[in-house]
Amino acid sequence: PTVSYMDPQGTEHVIDAEDGRSVMETAVAHGVPGVVGQCGGSLACASCHVYVREPWIDRLGEVSELEDDMLDGAMAERRPESRLSCQIKMSAELDGLSVEVAPEQL
Ligand code: FES
Repeated sequence: PTVSYMDPQGTEHVIDAEDGRSVMETAVAHGVPGVVGQCGGSLACASCHVYVREPWIDRLGEVSELEDDMLDGAMAERRPESRLSCQIKMSAELDGLSVEVAPEQL
């Protein structure tokens, strides 16, 4: 499945993700600027903050309580379409997912 990231400089990166890999891990593995993923995906850093573009936000699962707390503490402004990308696993249903990388992560 492909996922596209717009980095904080406005450059679009379209990546063919491995099935089951998170959006954070995919970004880090391909060097997408702006995605840090400091805690390795254990919901302890919020440095994988992204803004999910329409229409994808509604197709993702619910935000867990811990993700919700971590998003409240994220560096960049929290918006309704904010998610932590380590909590989004790529799958065929998410083929074409499009996100914007939050401008500050740490
Ligand atoms: Fe730390 Fe996502 S990588 S919360």
